[in-house]
Amino acid sequence: MKDARIEDIGKYEGLEVTLKGWLYNLRSKGKLHFLQVRDGSGIIQAVMFKPNFDPEFFKEVKKLPQESSIIVTGKVKKDKRSALGYELDVTGLEIIQKSDQYPIQPKEHSVEFLLPRRHLWIRSRMQWAILRIRAEIIRAIRDYLDDSGFLLVDTPIFTPAACEGTTTLFETQYDSHHKAYLTQSGQLYNEATIMAFGKTYCFGPTFRAEKSKTRRHLREFWMVEPEMAYAHLEDVIRYSEGMIMAIVERVLDRKKVELEILERDVSKLEAIQTPFPRMSYQDAVKILHEKGVDFKDGGDFGSEDETILSSMNHSPLVVHRFPSAIKAFYMEPDPEDDTYCLSVDFLVPEGYGEVIGGGERMSDPDLLLQRVREHNLPEDAFQWYIDLRRYGSVPHGGFGLGIERTVAWMCGIEHIRETIAFPRMLYKIYP
Ligand code: 4AD
Repeated sequence: MKDARIEDIGKYEGLEVTLKGWLYNLRSKGKLHFLQVRDGSGIIQAVMFKPNFDPEFFKEVKKLPQESSIIVTGKVKKDKRSALGYELDVTGLEIIQKSDQYPIQPKEHSVEFLLPRRHLWIRSRMQWAILRIRAEIIRAIRDYLDDSGFLLVDTPIFTPAACEGTTTLFETQYDSHHKAYLTQSGQLYNEATIMAFGKTYCFGPTFRAEKSKTRRHLREFWMVEPEMAYAHLEDVIRYSEGMIMAIVERVLDRKKVELEILERDVSKLEAIQTPFPRMSYQDAVKILHEKGVDFKDGGDFGSEDETILSSMNHSPLVVHRFPSAIKAFYMEPDPEDDTYCLSVDFLVPEGYGEVIGGGERMSDPDLLLQRVREHNLPEDAFQWYIDLRRYGSVPHGGFGLGIERTVAWMCGIEHIRETIAFPRMLYKIYP
């Protein structure tokens, strides 16, 4: 008898296999029990026929609570009616643990009810599908960057200063002499590593003490940040576009079952193609004004503005050259007009908004020092960063893609809290 996984069950047609899993649901009719069994890789219907079992045991199974752990043995049969294409004709069942009354029933529950039970909620079909798509997106990103000559370099979590604004810093007491801050981005460190390796990326958790509760913000989120030496804004846009296409194609190709569970309208994803439409910040502002939006020129886009702009096309919208005043201190000024900078945001369709932020970095040490001062950043903590412009400075740039927003978009779900196993949000840190 073979130990099998539900996702490979097709390989075992006609054979007897053993599945180690949990009871997802149970329905009985006459001499039959229909068990929905999940093993982590999928769900299969397992059918028990009364005459094949001890009558007492058959009765006991009927009362088996949802999420009881079971080992099921049976013969794999083709079944056109099931989504999986196969079902199991049960020959043996071993109960490992009879579950206590499981709090999450296969019906609608409110998010308020589900969030504190996240440790159990992740077993549900939709959550299972979302987290599997997340893993595939991460794999697609790594493959894309590894195949494009980027070297993975892990950057620190404890940092001595801010890099993406001082209002969202998480402070910790590092030792008796120093405070430290949880990283907001690994970018600054990878501006150092590219001078050693050419093209690098970091991929890890980043932290922002966001005070607002929105469907797009978490306090701990994962970001992939590629960085390149001898690169300009155009290169940043080209690789961002390439990465988004790699993600979309991979999810469409390998995550059909999961997309179906989520009832994702895949035609929206299939319609995406390169080159993505582009516009400057100034043109974007003009469009908002033409559409009657009361938008203050020079300000940052709010989520409504992003939704309007990104709904104009099937593919993500590339907005470039934002005002320097609303972007981070390290952005290279636009040589055409230095009140703007060589920055770029990628706004994805269907109201999901910005998933990528990036740009060309400042390469002049004197101007950079001036910006550090203007932004009231601690000069001492940035000496090493300014050094990079003293020793072999080159034009360089990169970008950061937020994993959770990308997962929400790919899955077509409302809120990013479901895109990570254990979301960290304002006033919510359990479990
Ligand atoms: O635009 P951001 O702040 O850019 C940076 O941090 C740069 N250092 C990246 C770089 O150039 N290497 O953030 C980049 C992306 C956003 O587009 C968004 O997808 C995501 O990170 N992001 C968040 N996701 C969830 N919750 C939050 N609070 C987020 N803040 C940013």
